[in-house]
Amino acid sequence: MSRPKVLVTRSDLPQKCLDMLKEKCDIEVYPESHPIPREELLRKIVGKDGIFCLITEKIDKEVLDAAGPKLKVISTLSVGYDHLSLDEIKRRKILVGNTPGVLTDATAELTVALLLATTRRFFECHAEILNSGWAKCAWSPLWMLGHGLTGKTLGIFGLGRIGSGVARRLQGFGLKRIIYAGHKPRETAKELNAEFVTFDTLLQESDFICVTCALNDETREIFDERAFSKMKSSAIIVNTSRGGVIKQEALIQALKTDQIRGAGLDVMTPEPLPCDHILTTLPNCTLLPHIGSAETQTREDMATLCSANLLAGLEGKPMPAQLC
Ligand code: DGY
Repeated sequence: MSRPKVLVTRSDLPQKCLDMLKEKCDIEVYPESHPIPREELLRKIVGKDGIFCLITEKIDKEVLDAAGPKLKVISTLSVGYDHLSLDEIKRRKILVGNTPGVLTDATAELTVALLLATTRRFFECHAEILNSGWAKCAWSPLWMLGHGLTGKTLGIFGLGRIGSGVARRLQGFGLKRIIYAGHKPRETAKELNAEFVTFDTLLQESDFICVTCALNDETREIFDERAFSKMKSSAIIVNTSRGGVIKQEALIQALKTDQIRGAGLDVMTPEPLPCDHILTTLPNCTLLPHIGSAETQTREDMATLCSANLLAGLEGKPMPAQLC
C-alpha cells in the first residue's frame, strides 16, 4: 500500500515530530525557517493527503482547491484556528487537529508575566538604564511608578483553559475581585472565585483586563472605540489571544490620549509587526512577539501532538485532539 503524502510547512521543528511522520508517511518539508510563501504552498500541497501547518499559513478555499480531493487531514501546530477556513474545510469533510491543553500553562504564565511587565513598566525601566535615565535620577521616589494588583479588580475576557490558568496563578496576588465575561458562565469559575459579568461591566469595573478568548466573528474587534470609552482611565489591557480581538486603531488612539493607562500585547496586527510601527513608539504599550507558548517543553509537546493528530487522522483513527 502506498504511504500517505504529507506537506510540512516548515523545517525548524522538534526532530521528534518529523521522525514520527517519516516513519509512516512520505513527507515533503519546506526547507526554510520562515513561513512558506503562498505560491510555494499552493504548488506543494497538490496531491497531498495531509498537511502539518502553522498559524502563519492561511488554509482557505484557494489552498483547498489547489490541494485537490486527496487532502484528508489538516493538523495545525496551534490551539488557535482562525487561520483555517473551517466552513470550507468541513464542507469537504477534511479532518482538523489542533494543540489545546499542552500550551495552557505556558500561555497563562506568559499572560501573568506580561500583565506585571506592563503594570510595573519593565521595558520602559530597561530603556532608562540604557539611555542613562537611571544614572541621572539615581533612586528617585517618584520615578517609574507602576500600579500593583493588590486590592484591584481583574477582568478576564474568555475564561477558557488559558483564562482560568491566569485566574489560578493570580490567586495569591491579593486581588479584590476576579470578574469574567464571555459566551456563558463557566463551571471552573467557582473554584477561582470568579464572577460572571456582562461585557460592559467587565469594561467598566476592571482595573486590568486580560484577553484570553478565541478570535471568531463574535469577538473580532470587540475591543473598539466604544469599549475603550467605557474602561477606567487607569485600566490596563493585556492581550495574549489574537490581535484581531482588538480594533488596533482604537487602541492606539486610547493609548495616545491616555483614555486608558496601558496595554501589554503578545499579539497584534500585523504579525510580525514592522519595527517602525506606531505601536513601537508608545511608551505605555509593552510588546512581545507572539511568544505565549514559546517554552521548550511546550513546543515539543505541541509538535508531538500535531504529528499524532495528523497520523491518527490519516489512519482513520480518532485524533488525540480533533477540532472537527
Ligand atoms: C496558538 O497556539 O494558537 C498560539 O497562538 C501559537 O502558539
